[in-house]
Amino acid sequence: MKIIECHTDSDLGEAGAREVLSALRRRRNPVLGLATGSSPVPIYRALAGREDFSGVRGFALDEYVGLGSNDPQSYLSVIHREIVGPLGMDPSLVLVPDGLTLDASAEADRYETAIRDAGGVDVQILGLGSNGHLAFNEPPSSFTSGTREVALSDSTRHDNARFFPHFDDVPTHAITQGLATIMSARVLVLVASGVRKAGAVARALQGPATEDFPASILQEHPHVTVILANGAGHLLKNAQDSSQPAAGGVLVPGGRRPPRRFE
Ligand code: GLP
Repeated sequence: MKIIECHTDSDLGEAGAREVLSALRRRRNPVLGLATGSSPVPIYRALAGREDFSGVRGFALDEYVGLGSNDPQSYLSVIHREIVGPLGMDPSLVLVPDGLTLDASAEADRYETAIRDAGGVDVQILGLGSNGHLAFNEPPSSFTSGTREVALSDSTRHDNARFFPHFDDVPTHAITQGLATIMSARVLVLVASGVRKAGAVARALQGPATEDFPASILQEHPHVTVILANGAGHLLKNAQDSSQPAAGGVLVPGGRRPPRRFE
């Protein structure tokens, strides 16, 4: 596992973009795993305009049950607004679980199959829930879980209430990629920013690997890069001062090259 500690969200974005591009450039038909939440936004900002993403397939991690394209807080809307548009991805190549489905179980199976049929995810961007969730795999979640409908915990609904007018507007259920689905991605890039994530980061990376803290499964993946900013790493044991890049964590200055195609 490589841990990169950054000063700022903009440094986090640069480091994340570098990891994503290096994983995608190795692939003939690249597949990018997309995460919502605030933490990955700097990565998308750093990626925009840097490559030609029009041939890159995308899969979202999750979607709220009951929200669709006409709701600005559906992950479908967020992904189109914050990622597909700015990166110039082809909307027809980007899939999000259908939050308006009448049969969540069939939709989850369809989604799992679509990921497999695309050849799997080459690089999956991940945020971290303050309760240790990955995507919407709430504690406890089976390490062998696939895409499915889940109930959201009150703590997650409170965390995400900032995006909705009232707490009661936060959906109670979601369709999420499972932990086994996420672990099947070839490369994982986990991002966390801010001291409020420090406890979850330490437990995920250095606590016991347990289904009671879903993000701890990352310890079992062979190719994970963790990118931390703004004190998110300050509870890690033996971590370097966050004012210094951690081992292997050299940051790329913001130099931009003209867009190029993945080959
Ligand atoms: C949501 C998403 C998760 C994300 C989490 C953290 O719950 N479903 O995939 O990791 O938010 O978001 P943030 O980065 O805004 O703290």
